[in-house]
Order: sequence, then structure tokens, then C-alpha cells
Amino acid sequence: MDVTWGRAAAVLDANWLGSSTVPSRSLYPHQWSWDSAFIALGLRHLSPSRARRELLTLFSAQWRDGRIPHILFNPDTPPEAYFPGPDFWRARRTSGLVQPPVHARAVLAVHETDPDRTFLATLYPKLRAWHEYLRTHRDAGGRGLAAIVHPWESGMDNSPAWDGPLSRVTPSAGFVRRDLQHGAAADRPSDEDYGRYVRLAADYRDSGYQDPGAFVVEDPGFNALFADAELALAAIAEELGLPAAAAAHREAAARVEKAMQETLWDNGFFFARDVRTGVRTREYTCAGLLPLLLPDLAVAPALLATATGPRFRLGRVHGVPSHDLTAPEFDPGRYWRGPSWSNVGWLVRQGLLRHGEHALASRLRDDLVETAARTDFAEYVDPLTGAGHGARSFGWTAALTLDLLA
Ligand code: DGY
Repeated sequence: MDVTWGRAAAVLDANWLGSSTVPSRSLYPHQWSWDSAFIALGLRHLSPSRARRELLTLFSAQWRDGRIPHILFNPDTPPEAYFPGPDFWRARRTSGLVQPPVHARAVLAVHETDPDRTFLATLYPKLRAWHEYLRTHRDAGGRGLAAIVHPWESGMDNSPAWDGPLSRVTPSAGFVRRDLQHGAAADRPSDEDYGRYVRLAADYRDSGYQDPGAFVVEDPGFNALFADAELALAAIAEELGLPAAAAAHREAAARVEKAMQETLWDNGFFFARDVRTGVRTREYTCAGLLPLLLPDLAVAPALLATATGPRFRLGRVHGVPSHDLTAPEFDPGRYWRGPSWSNVGWLVRQGLLRHGEHALASRLRDDLVETAARTDFAEYVDPLTGAGHGARSFGWTAALTLDLLA
């Protein structure tokens, strides 16, 4: 057995709680929504039944309105281990925010590895309800895109793309950050940003998780993953013998893609749009590369040119930098302001494969595996040096390494 395979499998075993996997025993000691989907993509190669359990546990926390909460709290974890915990959210063991909808892709992949019609038939209506929530409750801009109402919903918490909209938020005070007990302050979001995250989450909670506050943004990463998830749902519907539903999912994907093209595309890149001001940000972040996942993307050649150009230097640095290498805010070690993350690398590699860029995809794969193994499956790495940052033994880094090796 490949040594890296065994080490990655050991990380997933150590992070397994019995019905779900923690991203990190120290920094993130509960179940996170998009982490679980990426973790299932790797777990399916070790134990399809555990991968199914991972996703079924997450969907057991689905709200009546269809949303999949971004955190499902583990009752056995001590309250002081993570902030903001269940007492903050007041929502029965979950948070009230969401994360990018990568679940349909994970469900389909788990089924492809080990066909299980019952699993598919159980999750299909739940996935539909989840996507319907995004379509109906989150089209704040009225253009057919899903808006996020908190930076945590993008999964890319302190991306420079959020600096503009976040500047309107008055930071909360009087809480204790738990993340700094486990992570270096220089690798994590600033105190000021954290205060704004807490303020936004508290305001949203106080509205009964209905009314967005100052932060309402159409993110190209979230929407590209939404369109890709509709394509995955189409494949699931085909598997279940529902061709009319499959056609409807493909149309839904095409509508999101068209809306992204009309609203977020500008000058060779997809930018986030601040719904409150109507202004597109000018930040080149890795989220703008994720539309490469869409096989019909007409502007793929221009987007690939940006990806391989000076801003991201794809194939010539480690992974996919989370932020523009040429921007003044680029910070190679600070969370989503520069470091490369393995889930983004994995997604961009999928996009490269879908657009016939096999040589670049294979170089990216080799680099992702080597970097993960050398850094003990770091949460993120410096794109220029490959040095590890953040947590080690990180769930999705280990899981996606398994998927790349499988
Ligand atoms: C964290 O706690 O840092 C997460 O990113 C929020 O979900």
C-alpha cells in the first residue's frame, strides 16, 4: 500500500466520530457542511458505508425550509472547544448559516463507487429541497443567483473580496475567540474581521434566520458549485429513472450559468457582486476560477488564460492561490487571503479535466498529493514555498488526497 494512502486513511480514522468526521480534532471539533461532502469523496474509497453515513448524518440536520446548516454540533464536544457554539446559534444543535452546495456531487460520487439505490433515493428529495431553498430564499438580487449573507457561507471566510461589503458592519465585542487557542494568529482572520462575523451572525439569528443584514453578496464560487450541483442532481435523477426531472435540473444549471455570465463576468474573470450596492468587486480570488467546473462554459479559454497568467500562475506555484498573487492584500499564510487549499485545487483540477487540459490537471494533481503528504495534510499551504499553515491532519486534505490517488 502507498505510504501516503495509509497516512491519509489514518487521518480520516482519527477524525471519525462514529457517524461523521471532524475537519480537525482541535480547530473544528464538529461536523461542517462542505467539509463533509469533500470528506465523503475520499471516504468512499475506504468505506462506502461510512461515506454514506457521513452524508446521511449531515442531511439529518436539514431544516424544514430546506437549508443544510453549515455546522452540526457534536453533543459530546465540550462547549468551550469552539465559538460560536450551539448556545450562540439557538437553533437546536446547528448553525443557521449555509455553505456551498457541493453535496449532490458527493452523493453521486459515493453512489458511483458503490451503487446503492436506497441511499440515492433517500437523499434525492433532500437535495432537491436544499437547492430549492437556495433558489427561492436566496435570490436576493433577483437575477437567478444564490446570494450569501455571511462570509462563512462562502467557505472562504476572510477573502479580500469581502473587505468592501464587510466594512459596513460594526464589529461585535465581548466574546472569546477559541480558534486562536489552536491556530497561529497570523494564519487566521483578524480580530476585527472576527468581530464582524459575530455581529452579522447575531443579527441574522435575531431575525429568525430570515433577513440578511449588511452583507449580501453573489459569489461566483458558490454559484458555480450550485450550477455544478444541479448537473450532479440531473445525473442522480437519470439514475433513478426520472428523465423529466433530470432535464429540469440541467435547465436550472444553465440558468445559473447564464446569470453568472451576465452579472459576474467582466474582462476575463468572474467577480463577486455586492447586492446592497450593485457593485462588482475587483478582487481576483480563487472563487472566480470555479466556473471552470461547468463543461459548457463559453468563456473557459479566457478564464484559463487568467488562471495560468501572473495572478494565479497555475502549474508554476503550489496548488491554486486563494488570492491574486499580484495584489497588495495577498498574504501567503493567512487563511483565504493567499494560501492554497486542497479542495479548491481538487475542484480546479476537475474543471481542467472537463476542458481537456490534461497536462495541467496532472501537474496539479502531483503537486497536491506531494504537498499534502509533506505537510502532514495541512489545512492550507503557502503557494510560493509549499510550507504548511493552519491545522494539520485536516479532514478534506486527507480525503481529497485519497481521491487523487485512487
Ligand atoms: C471557522 O470557525 O473558522 C469557520 O470557518 C466558520 O465556519
